[in-house]
Amino acid sequence: MSAWLWSLGPSLALLAACAWLALERRRLQGELQAQSRQTLVQADSERRRIRQQATLEERERIYRDLHDDLGSQLLQMIYTAPNPEQADRARALLQNLRDVVSRSRGEPGRLGDVLAEIEAEARQRLAAVSVELNWEQAEHLPDPILDSGQALHLQRIVREGISNAIRHAQAHTLRVRVRPDAQQLLLDVTDDGFGAPANQREGRGMDSMRTRAAELQGQIDWTPGTLGGTKITLRFPLSAQS
Ligand SMILES: Nc1ncnc2c1ncn2[C@@H]1O[C@H](COP(=O)(O)OP(=O)(O)OP(=O)(O)O)[C@@H](O)[C@H]1O
Ligand SMILES: [Mg+2]
Repeated sequence: MSAWLWSLGPSLALLAACAWLALERRRLQGELQAQSRQTLVQADSERRRIRQQATLEERERIYRDLHDDLGSQLLQMIYTAPNPEQADRARALLQNLRDVVSRSRGEPGRLGDVLAEIEAEARQRLAAVSVELNWEQAEHLPDPILDSGQALHLQRIVREGISNAIRHAQAHTLRVRVRPDAQQLLLDVTDDGFGAPANQREGRGMDSMRTRAAELQGQIDWTPGTLGGTKITLRFPLSAQS
């Protein structure tokens, strides 16, 4: 019996060695697969990084071309416009173009700074068409940070409101009031012009103002103005940041 067992020894050892080899082979295969998966993931993220870089460079190039080509043509239009209203139209387009370019760099800003920029632009535009601006801003306004999108929406809403007052209202005076209302910012733009015509047809401007107000999680309304023309009222929540 024991001699028989002894004779089995080498076979058992061989069997054990084969089993170990099979296990080892499977382990190595697993490791190789894991390595090649990792290499694929790395290659994929490198490809994505290169693609993003190329997209960024292409976008920068387009912005540069837009700015240099269209920008200089718009400047030319401002200086050769037959009347101040046409010059204002070209100036507003140029400003939009500059916004698109600067938004690509995505600068957030404090509410106070954004409002100061809006006021400066409004002053310049309205002075050029001899419309008086009354800017009434509450003294203790909260000063949260607006991200670049919020700042842009606010700027564009006021810009279009002013464009409409210049183009359609023939106003002499435009009043902008900014004040806090609970957790919201309340901004109204009122002109003393003709008011909306009976057959008013909304264009891109008002539609875009509504979309931007919604992006600000806010609301915008047009009503007959207390100064005789049109009053635009925008309200949107301010974040708790300060
Ligand atoms: N402040 C305003 N005073 C008088 N009418 C206005 C005023 N704002 C808007 N309107 C009237 O509402 C219409 C729609 O304005 P909206 O800004 O949507 O379009 P638009 O100014 O005609 O063209 P665009 O798409 O270039 O802005 C105007 O055509 C005008 O009749
Ligand atoms: Mg308009």
